[in-house]
Amino acid sequence: MDNELWTNVDNYLVSILAPSDPSLDAALADSTAGGLPQINVAPNQGKLLELLATIQGARRILEIGTLGGYSTIWLARALGDDGKLVTLELEPHHADVARINIDRAGLGPLVEIRTGPAAASLHSMIDERVEPFDFVFIDADKEGYAEYFSLTLKLSRPGTVIVADNVVREGAVIDPHNADERVIGIRKFLDTVKGDQRVSGTAVQTVGCKGYDGFALFVVE
Ligand code: SAH
Ligand code: DHB
Ligand code: MG
Repeated sequence: MDNELWTNVDNYLVSILAPSDPSLDAALADSTAGGLPQINVAPNQGKLLELLATIQGARRILEIGTLGGYSTIWLARALGDDGKLVTLELEPHHADVARINIDRAGLGPLVEIRTGPAAASLHSMIDERVEPFDFVFIDADKEGYAEYFSLTLKLSRPGTVIVADNVVREGAVIDPHNADERVIGIRKFLDTVKGDQRVSGTAVQTVGCKGYDGFALFVVE
């Protein structure tokens, strides 16, 4: 089992079920041209996010970690014309690239990008008493996941679906001595959700063109 096979199988599945289009291609091309890291979700993962949000009937989506807006485009496509997606991004340059990508995909009116540290944006929305979100995708700095998860719960309702990316990190997550801050962050996050009676959740490992990682999925009780 190696990365090349995983990539070939992803290419096969993507060509059948999650084909690209000019908006998605341009979003990735401009993200690369803008010097952004290529840590966006894979196309079939993006399609999975769109399907999960569609199944949920989501009208309000929260994304934590925008990058160039690639996953944002997939998620916003699950919204009706009256829907709204708020996406949080620390880096102004990432937000600028994302804004162009999202607008070009025709989703501009549905998407609000809040620039700054995600924790501060989450606190602001809690203070503003914004309506609860139906679907949340956590994909920013792994060090912040535990905090983002608990703040997200304050912006949720019973039935809200929360998905967190990158919870396996090539298997490093099982090593309590791993010194990588990202791995430590994921372990802290999983410690936080362990036994949390407010949610029911699971996690699955994934392999593909983006390597070996995993998603966690929760529903708020
Ligand atoms: N969801 C994107 C990928 C996000 S990558 C996709 O799949 O297309 C993670 C993003 O989180 C990066 O753009 C990074 O700048 C941002 N980030 C890092 N720390 C952050 C913080 N404290 N608050 C908000 N965003 C942060
Ligand atoms: C990293 C972040 C991501 O969101 C991802 O999907 C892959 C890698 C990272 O920070 O290394
Ligand atoms: Mg990710």
